[in-house]
Amino acid sequence: MNLLRALLFPVLTGGLLANEPALYQNPQAGLELRVEDLLKRLTLEEKVGLLYGSFKSGGVERLGIPPLKLSDGPVGIRSSIKTTALPCTLSLSATWDVAAARIYGDILSKEMLALKQNVLFGPGIDLMRDPTCGRNFEYMGEDPFLVSTLAVNYIQAVQANGVAACVKHLVANDTDHRRHSTSSNMNERTLREAHLLAFEMAARDGHVWSMMSGNNLFNGLYVAENAHVQQNILKGELGFDGVLLTDWRGAYDPIDTANGGTDMTMGLAAYVYSDGRFLQAVKNGIISRSLLDDKVRRVIRLYVRCGVLDPSRAAGAIDTTAHRDQARRLAIEGTVLLKNDRAILPLDVSRLRHVLVTGPASDRVPLGHGSGFVNSTLRITPLAGLKAALGDRITFDHVKWEITGPEKISAWRSETGLGTPPSIANLEAAARGADVVVFFATDEPHGENDDMADIDLPSGQNEAIRALAAVNPNIIVVLLTGQPVTINSWVQEVPAVLEAWYAGQATGDALADILIGKSSPGGRLSCTFGKELNDYAARSLGVWPSRLLLDKDPGEAGKTPEDRKRLYAFAADYKEGVFIGYRWFDQQNIEPLFPFGFGLSYTTFAFGDLAVDSSHDALRVTCTVRNTGNREGSEVVQVYIAPPKSSVPRPIRELKGFAKVHLNPGESRQVEIILRPAAIAYYDQTDKLWKAAPGDYQIEIGASSRDIRLKSTIKLAVEKTFARY
Ligand code: BGC
Repeated sequence: MNLLRALLFPVLTGGLLANEPALYQNPQAGLELRVEDLLKRLTLEEKVGLLYGSFKSGGVERLGIPPLKLSDGPVGIRSSIKTTALPCTLSLSATWDVAAARIYGDILSKEMLALKQNVLFGPGIDLMRDPTCGRNFEYMGEDPFLVSTLAVNYIQAVQANGVAACVKHLVANDTDHRRHSTSSNMNERTLREAHLLAFEMAARDGHVWSMMSGNNLFNGLYVAENAHVQQNILKGELGFDGVLLTDWRGAYDPIDTANGGTDMTMGLAAYVYSDGRFLQAVKNGIISRSLLDDKVRRVIRLYVRCGVLDPSRAAGAIDTTAHRDQARRLAIEGTVLLKNDRAILPLDVSRLRHVLVTGPASDRVPLGHGSGFVNSTLRITPLAGLKAALGDRITFDHVKWEITGPEKISAWRSETGLGTPPSIANLEAAARGADVVVFFATDEPHGENDDMADIDLPSGQNEAIRALAAVNPNIIVVLLTGQPVTINSWVQEVPAVLEAWYAGQATGDALADILIGKSSPGGRLSCTFGKELNDYAARSLGVWPSRLLLDKDPGEAGKTPEDRKRLYAFAADYKEGVFIGYRWFDQQNIEPLFPFGFGLSYTTFAFGDLAVDSSHDALRVTCTVRNTGNREGSEVVQVYIAPPKSSVPRPIRELKGFAKVHLNPGESRQVEIILRPAAIAYYDQTDKLWKAAPGDYQIEIGASSRDIRLKSTIKLAVEKTFARY
């Protein structure tokens, strides 16, 4: 606060005594007291002025209230100042580790504080319905329970430092192609059990302070105008007391948007509340004063919660040594070892002299683009990481994918494309002389607004891998991709495959640690790796891509208010219902290449002593895990429930609990996992409550969804119902 403002402050703010701050400015006063105190001081115009904006929103100069500052993004802060690029949140979800989610949230919020930002647009919690969605890298996979649990921990860690999390994009914004005109159409059960669940848990368990509605429609209505989802379920039924704000083009009509539950209109949609129509509607009584005040209260609550009204906030820090180390550690924990025949990994460095490093990602750090792009302080490429770890002992031959033209980095993406593949003859010649070949593969650059046509590796990579494998059996393929890719054409020909996702700034260091065995890869799949794209539910049912409802594709939604029209042009019909991801593969008996929950380690684990205590409302599951190999490593204990037959079709098994344990060789630990009381239930859309039919429920402990190691049965004599999940 500058000197003049400090001197005038008590006068301006209406403090009763000289130097005494007004109640709303008093950090010691209770939240709701501060909210009410400020609310009553605002004029009608000032109230409306708090309800729209962009990366900088609102503020009331007269009352000494600075604007709220909001920032992307979910995987690292998007800023002109360089920040830490964490492994993407898909990688975070592959850690299956709530402690990792807390570290992740802690780093983001400290960098937000250092940049004097208040609201972080993250985490992204839409489900991976199809692998081709351009934004899967900034979401957290296909399972609602896994997403919810990690999101809650991420949110709590962000908000513990006085920064607001803003979960996005409410709801089922899982395709980015024509997102402004696509309606996600589904029944209530699918909404409650699958696509809304993480938002519900973010509100109930994470106590998230804000949510962003997507640009999409839900059941024919823009989410920002969707009173059923926003007003009735979130604010009404679930008691969400935070702010619902729109995506950058997510709103159109002020009255429908206001009645639909939206508190703030943002970005290109800011005009919806700012162009005078909203104010007029309040003056005319079309939008009631109490509805206006409810929105303003929520926004003030957000200001108070993230310290905007306080004289000072914690300082935070960017790019600390701790952040660098944690970015590396998180990448290791999120990397999934998919295959390791002959225990070729970790590499026996003492016997290596000559290594061929190749593939289009060997000399770059792939990141997703769009608002989830991060212009990071560091970018350690795989080749740089390997050289730093082993360059004094080993010669690296590098055959590159040639890029013509220098790389340009904007706030949105890094421009290069994958480059031109080398000739197969060159690759073969280089591979013949190498002890080991390490191929760093990546997918077609993609991101926000940019879905993919398929998930094949582009730029000659499949051919190159097959050719290399034919001349050198010691080939390791490392995938740096934003979702699963189709690798069926060569996976049987290579002994080892790692999936490292977009591993962030420390990509090269983390991968070197894994390849040479300094660390064991800790990840498990948070999404099914199908053999082919058509195996996934929405594809196989012919409902992806979405159905065009008009006689021609209307193109992009216009950018100016005059151009912009509400347009429902595509229908995404969620015909698969709750059978998303592995639930579909299981129900249809489709063999995945690598199932949900799968991941190898450099060591082995044994599970035992399963006990299920059902004497209380919540099931208490315990078992022991032992490291039976001779290296350290982490295992994820996955608890699935396989329900009996009921009046509605239910998935064969569903993830309902998990815990990650890190064990030294020979070490064993008892793990306790408490399940939610409604973990056994499905959502009954007629009676509007959660129900569990009588019968036998198998409680299963798995090392993946297709590798169940222990089972126990609990019997339910009569139907049980639950008001909430
Ligand atoms: C994206 C959001 C992002 C916002 C602000 C939108 O286009 O969909 O995820 O937070 O822009 O950059």
